[in-house]
Amino acid sequence: MKNTASDLFKIIETIIPDLHAYVEKSMEGQGIVLKQQLASTLAKDLNLVQWIKNGGINATNVNQFLRTYLEHSQRMHHPHYIGHQVSSSHLASAVADFIHGVINNPMAIYEMGPSASVIEQTIINWMLDKAGWFKGETIDNFEDNPNNGGGVLTHGGSMANLTALLSARAKVAPEAWDSGNPNNLVVIGSEVAHYSIARSISIMGLGKKNMVSVPTSKSEVLQAEHLESVYKRTQNEGKTVMAVIANACATSTGLYDPIDEIGQFCNEYGLWYHVDGAHGASALLSDKYKGHLKGLERADSMIWDTHKMLRTSALCAAVLFKDAKNLTNTFQQKGSYLFHDKEKPGFDLMPYTIECTKSGIGTKLFWVLAAEGEKGLANYIDRQYDVTKEFYSIISNASDFECPYYPESNILCFRYKAGPDTNEFQLKIRNELVKSGQFYITSTEIKGIRYLRLTVINALTNSEHIQTLIKTIRAIAISMNPQP
Ligand SMILES: Cc1ncc(COP(=O)(O)O)c(C=O)c1O
Repeated sequence: MKNTASDLFKIIETIIPDLHAYVEKSMEGQGIVLKQQLASTLAKDLNLVQWIKNGGINATNVNQFLRTYLEHSQRMHHPHYIGHQVSSSHLASAVADFIHGVINNPMAIYEMGPSASVIEQTIINWMLDKAGWFKGETIDNFEDNPNNGGGVLTHGGSMANLTALLSARAKVAPEAWDSGNPNNLVVIGSEVAHYSIARSISIMGLGKKNMVSVPTSKSEVLQAEHLESVYKRTQNEGKTVMAVIANACATSTGLYDPIDEIGQFCNEYGLWYHVDGAHGASALLSDKYKGHLKGLERADSMIWDTHKMLRTSALCAAVLFKDAKNLTNTFQQKGSYLFHDKEKPGFDLMPYTIECTKSGIGTKLFWVLAAEGEKGLANYIDRQYDVTKEFYSIISNASDFECPYYPESNILCFRYKAGPDTNEFQLKIRNELVKSGQFYITSTEIKGIRYLRLTVINALTNSEHIQTLIKTIRAIAISMNPQP
């Protein structure tokens, strides 16, 4: 393939029928979800060394490569994909990916991609509005409004959590940017906060041990009544609390921490309150489920992934601040060639992100919204949360299965209970199931007990698929542990 527009579009025309069939068959539930192969064999089947050394891919030979590539890809649109918290994406977001791939506008500064910049700011305002942190007239009004929150899109929720914690540090210990951390900073949060929180704390040089855990219930929901004693302990030890973190919702269980109660505590003591809504902030769109985030107005910052419940392809997340000043203070650093005052018709996002080069990821969500409208996305969230409750009933009514809690979101855990009562047995079931390619599910531990885990993120997964899942798991379990 030469680097010409006509060669590109010839390739695209050639691959379209295969891609079309791949996604359509996946959606119809034809074939298996995942075919795994030894990595070294797959590299050979894909002919990687030859392609890398010699080049020469073109419209005549591209399908040879693509067919092997697709054969060994995870079929995210297959209704038996009920795995990780990454969306079985709305296909409209692929349009954004394609346009970005062709025009390549890394738009951290306005002049490198005015359209994508304007889309990002409008999307941020839309999200702020859903959080109750946008007070302007319309979301395409970019005038400074002292009552508006602020935010920026990042390449993923982990990066967004790190940004929020940097912002908390800028508030609590502004000298840290120049002089390094004071040696007494701690973060308080659930013992099951997402691992990106602990990583952020380590990356920031606080040391992971300075994450102070609050006890959780038997379903791993933060118990707000312990906050006071945990906080008092940190005070007696001479610590300064940098932030308090809530899960909305928790990664393993999909259960929401008590957002309002934690917020009341933080507001009472003047502590920075961060809500990790990577997965569950999308409930803000739903009249039926937004109550899970009641009390969000008490928070200082939150994060919200779009590649989880807002149906975009990976990867796009937002870090949002109730007070826009906290966004602007996060990176107290100047780069004269970029941040100089100049007469310009737009705004530069670079001062507010960890990333220097940044792609127009807001366009992914824009395309999904442009296809479905916000009501369409709200219906999707309602449907996924609703059917998960239905799946809970189906699974817990099967005499050889049990669920540890009633689901609040679209994450559901369960165990096959008729076999050996060990964590290893559940893991073996999951491994055999995934190896068979019939379903893709995950597993997790809650309070040391291993469960099978579903993220009901595919809009096509229905109760018949769950009945088939139960039968398939049962057959696997019985074959692994035949009764005498
Ligand atoms: C609660 C929570 N926070 C943060 C993250 C990290 O998000 P990302 O995978 O986009 O980096 C996840 C990912 O599953 C999560 O569940």
